[in-house]
This record gives sequence, structure tokens and C-alpha cells, in this order.
Amino acid sequence: MKVDLYERIWMWGVAVVLAGFFVSTAIAAYGSQIHPPSHIETIDPRTAITDPRMAPQGVSVDADGRVHVRVVGVTFAWLPAEATVPAATPITFHITAADVVHGFQIVGSNGQAMAIPGYISQFTTQFMTPGEYLIVCNEYCGVGHHMMAGKLIVAPKDSWQAPSASRSSEPESEEVEE
Ligand code: CUA
Repeated sequence: MKVDLYERIWMWGVAVVLAGFFVSTAIAAYGSQIHPPSHIETIDPRTAITDPRMAPQGVSVDADGRVHVRVVGVTFAWLPAEATVPAATPITFHITAADVVHGFQIVGSNGQAMAIPGYISQFTTQFMTPGEYLIVCNEYCGVGHHMMAGKLIVAPKDSWQAPSASRSSEPESEEVEE
């Protein structure tokens, strides 16, 4: 079969670009360990607010000294509405929804994840600049969507105090093979 020279150039061009996409995805996933902000952990949305993996909502410190924030999205609020975390410290967020899909976004940072009923989204990030960060819902969820906001206060590391009602241990997360 005779293939025109220009046709051949385009075919090879497409093949090279596709190969580039696959290789860069593979490098990001396996080389740099970059994954979507989720770890396929499931939860019953009807009991999400009281589930030991999500309650109490808010800031806690685990036995290793790592800081966690648990947030449940409900129409039309984030529980809790406000959280205070230390600056320049890795913070692991655990996000879920009790009713419909919400979008958890910490404005002015790279902290963002879908809040999906039935799943716990998780991501770890840190905030180098102390201050107040607005938390919005970026997924349309109903008539009160525009009012669904919260506040993240990032305190200087040495003035931040761990919450006194810290949990003594982290509940086992039901992580499955990714
Ligand atoms: Cu919750 Cu939009």
C-alpha cells in the first residue's frame, strides 16, 4: 500500500505525541508518585458524620505527630466551618460528603478534592504562608451552593496549639490496593 509522504509524517507525528503522553503519565505515576487526590476508601454516607474515621470533624494529631483535618460536606456547609492548622507542616485532609457531591477547595492553595458521598478523598499539602484561607464549594450542589464556605486559619508553626481533644490513635483506614 502506497502511503503519501506527508500522510506518513502525520502518522508518525501522532504516534510520537501519543507515546510522549503515555510515557509522561507513567513517569508521573510511578516515578514521581503523583496520584489523584483519592485513595479509594469507601464510607456509608448516611453515617459519615459519626463514622469513627470522620468523627470528630476538625483538626487532630496522630501518634506520629502528623496533623489531620477531617471534613464532611453537607448541603450547604462544611463541617467544621473553621479549622486552624500550623504553617509549614504537612496536613492530611480527609474529605467526604453526607448527601450530594461537593467540591472542597482551599482558595489560594493547591488543596482541593471532590467530596463524594460514599468515598473518602484524601490529600496532603502544606501552607507556607500563615493567614486566613477561604474554603469554598466548587461543585454545584443545590440552591445554597454559593453560601457553602468555610475558613482555614494557618497559624505560625510555633504559636499553633494542637487541639486538646486530640484522638489517641488514628483509626485504620480501609485502604485498598490502588
Ligand atoms: Cu456544596 Cu456546592
